[in-house]
Amino acid sequence: MNIVVTGGAGFIGANFVYYMLKQRPADKIICFDKLTYAGNMATLDKAMTKEKFKFIRGDIADRRAVDKLFRDEKPDIIVNFAAESHVDRSIEDPELFLRTNILGTSVLLDACRKYGIDRYHQVSTDEVYGDLPLDRPDLFFTETTPLHTSSPYSASKASADLLVQAYSRTYKIPVTISRCSNNYGPFHFPEKLIPLMIINALHDKKLPVYGKGENVRDWLYVKDHCSAINLVLTKGKAGEVYNIGGHNERRNIDVVKIILKELGKPESLIEHVEDRKGHDRRYAIDPTKIRNDLGWEPETKFEDGIKQTIQWYLEHKDWWENIISGEYQNYYDKMYGNR
Ligand code: NAD
Ligand code: DAU
Repeated sequence: MNIVVTGGAGFIGANFVYYMLKQRPADKIICFDKLTYAGNMATLDKAMTKEKFKFIRGDIADRRAVDKLFRDEKPDIIVNFAAESHVDRSIEDPELFLRTNILGTSVLLDACRKYGIDRYHQVSTDEVYGDLPLDRPDLFFTETTPLHTSSPYSASKASADLLVQAYSRTYKIPVTISRCSNNYGPFHFPEKLIPLMIINALHDKKLPVYGKGENVRDWLYVKDHCSAINLVLTKGKAGEVYNIGGHNERRNIDVVKIILKELGKPESLIEHVEDRKGHDRRYAIDPTKIRNDLGWEPETKFEDGIKQTIQWYLEHKDWWENIISGEYQNYYDKMYGNR
């Protein structure tokens, strides 16, 4: 099979490329990525040596480029990871999120209509459900929870989901959607909570915790997300939505303290800064459907995954030093300078 992975030079997409090269050695994996600030060819170094892997630079919102992709590569499966993914950036400047996340999705779907596809899979997020109150630990997001978004990022992802469902119903395109909770692991871009805190702590820099740090995220090791998507591709039913999560809820402040403890750094590095606008309080996935229908279980416990992740950052300084020494520095100064 020819499997196109859009956004495969980013955090989860690249982990998925490596997962698929290992799990499905007979299939050809084609990464289609615009290489925005979040895309990184260094991440794909090892994949580039594999015969079954091909990289194509391109924009999912560019119709001509996507048309060429379909004509040249004749994909059987599309897995769409490509997105602008950072909530804080979407609050600063929403427009690019609409172009890539919404228009880009519709361009891919139009190509599926024109050329045909065995499966179009949309990598969505639990953020489309909005948030849950902190004092109701009994509540979880299920696949039937209404979409109710908070940030321009989550609104753009929810819009894309609606388009995917509309194309499924109207044009009978065989689609699936997965909505996963927060991922962590290797190749996570330094702007996101866990890598940002690891890298700042290593530099004895302040750790900027938004507000009181009481917001809760439901963390999943990235490889478990990859195994879930592969299972949805092989066993999932067209037209269905699958939530992905491992019941691992943590307050941000507790995650930050674990990182400091692992690195032997003092809690005095923590600095409470101005809260994120519209900050979602709690995410929590109910993964009953994917567990019962497809038999998916996560393998990595947070206690192990966070240690492995910290170790990975310690062993791959070149990877992240390259990132933080470039344009990222301007972003950091702009985002945290006046907070
Ligand atoms: P990321 O920002 O690390 O990577 C995004 C990738 O998409 C980059 O390689 C970038 O170059 C590429 N890209 C951006 N715009 C593009 C365009 N117009 N055309 C082609 N490529 C483009 O993101 P991530 O954290 O790996 O997230 C991947 C997907 O998973 C996203 O759709 C995101 O919404 C979803 N998701 C992320 C998480 C998480 O915790 N990170 C959780 C659930 C769902
Ligand atoms: O839930 C899935 C989503 O998880 C994905 O759809 C998004 O693409 C992904 O970026 C992630 O969104 P979050 O906003 O939850 O992740 P982020 O790492 O930006 O923030 C996690 C929490 O940490 C959030 O409550 C905000 C807080 N935070 C974040 C940063 C960057 C801080 O307190 N300080 C920070 O500097």
